Amino acid sequence: PGWVLVLRNGLSKLGPPGLFLKGMLSRWADEQARLEIPKAKGSVSAVTNQAFFIPLYELFLTYGGIFRLIFGPKSFLIVSDPAIAKRILKDNSKAYSKGILAEILEFVMGTGLIPADGEVWRVRRRAIVPALHQKYVAAMIKLFGQASYRLCEKLEAAVSDGEDVEMESLFSRLTLDIIGKAVFNYDFDSLTHDNGIVEAVYVALREAEMRSTSPFPTWEIPIWKDISPRQKKVTKSLKLINSTLDDLIAICKRMVEQEDLQFNEDYINEQDPSILHFLLASGDDVSSKQLRDDLMTMLIAGHETSAAVLTWTFYLLSKAPEVVAKLQDEVDTVLGDRFPTIEDMKKLKYTTRVINESLRLYPQPPVLIRRSLEDDVLGEYPIRRGEDIFISVWNLHRSPKHWVDAESFNPERWPLDGPNPNESNQNFSYLPFGGGPRKCVGDMFATFETVVATAMLVRRFNFQMAPGAPPVEMTTGATIHTTEGLKMTVTRRTRPPIIPNLETKVITVDGDQQLSSNL
Ligand code: HEM
Repeated sequence: PGWVLVLRNGLSKLGPPGLFLKGMLSRWADEQARLEIPKAKGSVSAVTNQAFFIPLYELFLTYGGIFRLIFGPKSFLIVSDPAIAKRILKDNSKAYSKGILAEILEFVMGTGLIPADGEVWRVRRRAIVPALHQKYVAAMIKLFGQASYRLCEKLEAAVSDGEDVEMESLFSRLTLDIIGKAVFNYDFDSLTHDNGIVEAVYVALREAEMRSTSPFPTWEIPIWKDISPRQKKVTKSLKLINSTLDDLIAICKRMVEQEDLQFNEDYINEQDPSILHFLLASGDDVSSKQLRDDLMTMLIAGHETSAAVLTWTFYLLSKAPEVVAKLQDEVDTVLGDRFPTIEDMKKLKYTTRVINESLRLYPQPPVLIRRSLEDDVLGEYPIRRGEDIFISVWNLHRSPKHWVDAESFNPERWPLDGPNPNESNQNFSYLPFGGGPRKCVGDMFATFETVVATAMLVRRFNFQMAPGAPPVEMTTGATIHTTEGLKMTVTRRTRPPIIPNLETKVITVDGDQQLSSNL
């Protein structure tokens, strides 16, 4: 305002004290000129009592695509606007780090690819991305098929015994078995039996989830670590996982030394197509601690996410028999009784749409976390360095502004002959795998994995919620879990009889009827 200018000029004439006052005045005027981000008011307990991303949806409808949430001395920016999400994740991604996420996950992922920032991230991303080349993903389809087959056998036994099954834990085991083989050629075999290492992985995962949702960091109190039984168990589990990883790295190093395969960009060792094998064969110059951090990160990143996608897909399918019918029809036509191959992935279009739509309604993780490293402008609002930001993918994916009938499960919303939906063609209204330079490296892997598992399960069985099953409600850690599991009744599928189409009937000379072979 004009009076500020007059006062500023007057103050300059008063010498040093005047100059000091002038500085103060300018800062105050700048602050006033800044547009203020709306502050969400309301009870904090409403936010902490349930899966935290649910109340954020109501606040988004009230306060808009960016608002500030205040918890005592801390404040967070909640972003639910696609253009702002795009600015943070892609257009100005250099100005943001993983912030709180890196602090929380340090104990288990160290400086692995998910929490890492800056130069460490750049170098590791450049080393790891090539490992997930096309030939690798194609080889993985076989692994997805074999592991899904083991799950089918397990379900077959439950059907014979007339027992209901808890699908969430089975999906978790399925994807653990897959990711262990895929990343470091280790067979957890958790679908068949429990062992120490499987338990250790779950202890580490639960701890990471607890730390991401706990309001008070008890684990940072120095003596607590040594006396709390829970923390002692965590330390022991991490030791076991680390020594297992060290052994696997050593075994793989020996294999690489003995083989005489030439390394090139689509290098693959048929006996061990794992990411670890690729990295070692590529001559990746990396400390063993960093390699372990990266393996651990991929183990976690690729395990619970895929498991959660399958859990919520089967929950959605249990309420949509018309979708199941279309799905089974496609799988019968494309696969018949075969194991899926990479060529089938293009043909299982409707199955892919089912996964796309499940990821829209239940994104894993439901929020992305960032911290601003410098001042920036988000939408019309200037923000300062050091802001903690949650991008609510949940809100973006359910925004009434961008989706028709946002809450309904409708795989048909994306035409089968259209492109596969992703953050680019949906302009950041849909980002199941993030976007920009930090986008998921396993997006193709995960899509095929969940497509193969879904196809193989629905072709053999029908799934319904078990009578008396607990209500399916959400809770959150890194991904969205159910509160009490997904209890289902599984029945063997009886294929509908093939009804001959009268128009394709062929009458032979001797009067016998033959059915045309295309049935
Ligand atoms: C990053 C989702 C499976 C490895 C991400 C991000 C998302 C995501 C949203 C971005 C995180 C952020 O920007 O803060 C998913 C979902 C999956 C899945 C929904 C399953 C359906 C996998 C698999 C792997 C994997 C199977 C490994 C083979 C990674 C890694 C990153 C990442 C390493 C970090 C990339 C970086 O920061 O450069 N994932 N992911 N993910 N994902 Fe996945």
